[in-house]
Amino acid sequence: MFKVAVCGCGVVGSGVADILLEQREKLSARFNTEVCLGYILDIRDFAGTPYAPYMAKDVETILADEDVKLFSVTIGGLDFAYQLCRRALEAGRHVVTSNKEVVAAYGRELEQLAYDHKVRFLYEASAGGGIPVIRPLNICIYANDINEIQGILNGTTNYMLTGMYRDKMSFDAILKDAQAKGFAEANPSADVDGYDAARKIAILSSIAYGAWVDYNDVACTGIREVVYADHELAASAGYAIKLIAGSKMQDGGVQVSVEPKLVPKANMLASVNSVYNAVLTKGSYTGDTLFYGQGAGKLATASAVLGDIIEILGRPTVDSLPAFVSNNASVVKEDTAAYRFYVRFKSGFEEGETDEIASCVRATFGAGSNFIGFALADATLGGFITDYCTKQELAALTEKFTAVANVEIQYTMKVLD
Ligand code: HSE
Repeated sequence: MFKVAVCGCGVVGSGVADILLEQREKLSARFNTEVCLGYILDIRDFAGTPYAPYMAKDVETILADEDVKLFSVTIGGLDFAYQLCRRALEAGRHVVTSNKEVVAAYGRELEQLAYDHKVRFLYEASAGGGIPVIRPLNICIYANDINEIQGILNGTTNYMLTGMYRDKMSFDAILKDAQAKGFAEANPSADVDGYDAARKIAILSSIAYGAWVDYNDVACTGIREVVYADHELAASAGYAIKLIAGSKMQDGGVQVSVEPKLVPKANMLASVNSVYNAVLTKGSYTGDTLFYGQGAGKLATASAVLGDIIEILGRPTVDSLPAFVSNNASVVKEDTAAYRFYVRFKSGFEEGETDEIASCVRATFGAGSNFIGFALADATLGGFITDYCTKQELAALTEKFTAVANVEIQYTMKVLD
């Protein structure tokens, strides 16, 4: 008998409970033991629902049942979920979780605790929702030296950016829509300001580079300042705007960031729309490998939790050391690399001014710069793309440009190469 305790019956937890109820026979047949939903830990009762017979209010009651072999921690927030993971592991129970806050903050400690207690701590659903990416990084492509990861790791913001452009929706309206669909975090700031994606890229980078990346060290910019005109200008120049969570090895350190970028339409990440996520890894043997799928949502994310449960049913003990090693990554804080930048500016826009601004862009930002033009949505907003320069050089160049062209620079974003 292998009972699973589902802790937290919210969006993901209820999905895990549903799949366990639906797939009981299939799972039990494959592993030749009764695999079933044992308990649901939640303060609510769910009277009149299929969950009602499984409800429990107290962890100790669940732990007293020796048939409970695994805790599926799908409770959000940090402290209670972390304590629950610890308690279950110390009691010799496996733990699987979708809680990226817990994994990004305490993953290393919990893996060690699991190792010490000869049980397993797995967290496939903590990054990329339903996409299998953590296990592939840990096993399938582990032999590679990974030198770069680029990802779209937040379903809510990708849904918002896609919808904002497609339906010309405002930021607030599209955020409400994402929340109603259950994609967004309880506090939308985690999504729109990039912190959720920062935790996910920290988790993936820690595994990929074999050194712990602290999510607090991720340079993080969200999507609050992106407006419809940016999408329109980017599209007319052949780009889509995506919140890119990326990391790469640079001079022995890891450079890691979350920020909106212009992605060339020929890049596969540009076609990742709505709640879909994707992770592109650059491996020494594989070259580019793309993982793609639903990055948020009840059943897709629950499917990844079930993947961990199935892995544990097949391999309840492992002798290998935890994936999160004890050494810390050296994170490169100063970004001195050169990029092309998209620049949005506001001008008074008088007849004849366009040619003047276009030639001023070229004279200031170099031969490789590209004046896009003005937005149809708002003729006072224009955009251009610079030639390669560093962030520091961009600041000096935009100052020089505004002095000559008499425009106001409103917003800049990097262009993904
Ligand atoms: N709020 C998260 C997202 C949920 O939108 O990606 C999945 O982690």
